[in-house]
Amino acid sequence: MRPLIELNYENTHSNQLDSNKMGQANGLLLEKVFEDNQDRIASIVNDLYAKKNTPGQWCRWLTLGENTALKTQINDYVKTVAGQFDDMVVLGIGGSSLGGYALLRALIHPYWNQLPADKRNGCPRYHFIENVDADQMNGLLDILTPSRTLFIVISKSGSTAETMSAFMIAKAWLETHIAEEKAIAKHIVAITDAKQGLLRPLADQAGYQTFEVPDDVGGRFSVFSAVGLLPAALCGISIDEIQSGIQAIDQQLQLPDLSQNIAAQAALIQIQLYQQGKFMAVFMPYSFRLASVADWMVQLWAESLGKQKNLNGDDVFVGSTPIKAVGVTDQHSQVQLYNEGPFDKVFTFIEVASPTKDIAISDNQFTDTPDLTYLNGKPLSALMNAEFQSTRASLTRNQRPNMTITLPEVNAYYLAQLLYMLEVKTAIAGALLNIDPFNQPGVELAKQYTYALMGRSGYEHLIAEAQGRVAEDTQVMHVAI
Ligand code: PA5
Repeated sequence: MRPLIELNYENTHSNQLDSNKMGQANGLLLEKVFEDNQDRIASIVNDLYAKKNTPGQWCRWLTLGENTALKTQINDYVKTVAGQFDDMVVLGIGGSSLGGYALLRALIHPYWNQLPADKRNGCPRYHFIENVDADQMNGLLDILTPSRTLFIVISKSGSTAETMSAFMIAKAWLETHIAEEKAIAKHIVAITDAKQGLLRPLADQAGYQTFEVPDDVGGRFSVFSAVGLLPAALCGISIDEIQSGIQAIDQQLQLPDLSQNIAAQAALIQIQLYQQGKFMAVFMPYSFRLASVADWMVQLWAESLGKQKNLNGDDVFVGSTPIKAVGVTDQHSQVQLYNEGPFDKVFTFIEVASPTKDIAISDNQFTDTPDLTYLNGKPLSALMNAEFQSTRASLTRNQRPNMTITLPEVNAYYLAQLLYMLEVKTAIAGALLNIDPFNQPGVELAKQYTYALMGRSGYEHLIAEAQGRVAEDTQVMHVAI
């Protein structure tokens, strides 16, 4: 049996983090925290898994690793379009794009889009449009060939202005280059709700290939639905491997016993430290491939846990602020702050035990320069590993609590374990904070203001507010440059 990813959290223990020494630092008495919270965790884990098939509970993401019908549907489609497209453009935002992008960045060649077609096994290059930026859109359309481009429009609600505007531009662009409507339909795939929203009827009417964002799966928990799996499979990533990884770790994450459940351990430590004033959660993979996993995690953590109301309806204004850092790059931008700044952060490192392919630092360069010869002949991964260990050790010495998740290597099997574990961790953290991690009422207001400013009917009453003409006693400062 292949191993599972591991969690090491000893640097959150108060023996490692000596609160007497620093005064302001604090760590956890782990044995006591675990003992005190075992029953609570058991009931949270049992409750979470009990909801996985319950309509209206938004927990069906827990079932995606077992969805063989989805795997077959995607693989069948991928076979039918094999070799037809040089470029795939994903149109989506937030939970409808970050997961797919994270899978692709992690699992295929780091410079995939620069590879010739034969080195990509005939799979398309990939592009994500997740902004409403004219320069980006024009720039991308400039380099695409209409007859060889596939657009995948992803929106659960089917009404998100950013995604739908990108889709409308893409469709019009195809129409100016491809005469026949039926032929255009082959260049568009829609991933949306099975029944609801604006995109579903439009896609069905136009005869696009469609996939579902399943009921009760929210955007940021949808990476293992067609939302993430279709773009991944089109670039040759194995859904089988992804689903096997989820299934393997899921057996552990369902366990109510805290000592065996790494998602529950990570969530509990993080929230206990949050409640001691560590309001920031730094997520720092030591891996170029995993850089976009940090972006995905930032959204998952922020949108799930940042809430005004608790489950009783009281104002609580909770949430730990996620921060992306990439090792080793951000050692030279953020680590000064982390070692010497406020004691308000918990660090989660992601360590990769073996690189996909190592490279040695040459052993015959600058041999007369002793201060460089120590690098001679060493694998580059040894330097990465030394830098990771050193940063972690310096943070620990400086009384900064940190955890480490170790992946044996970056492949579909272990990456799926990591993402799924982080989803379960986030759901458990939400329960510990007594909030609903599956809604996002805080994004609604700005969305409605945008509709008002763009002239969508039914939103006229919000125009004044959206323009910043707010109540008289509110000070609004505009700075013009
Ligand atoms: O996690 C979420 O629910 C959000 O980030 C959504 O994914 C995002 O707002 C896009 O929504 P939709 O898929 O409806 O276009």
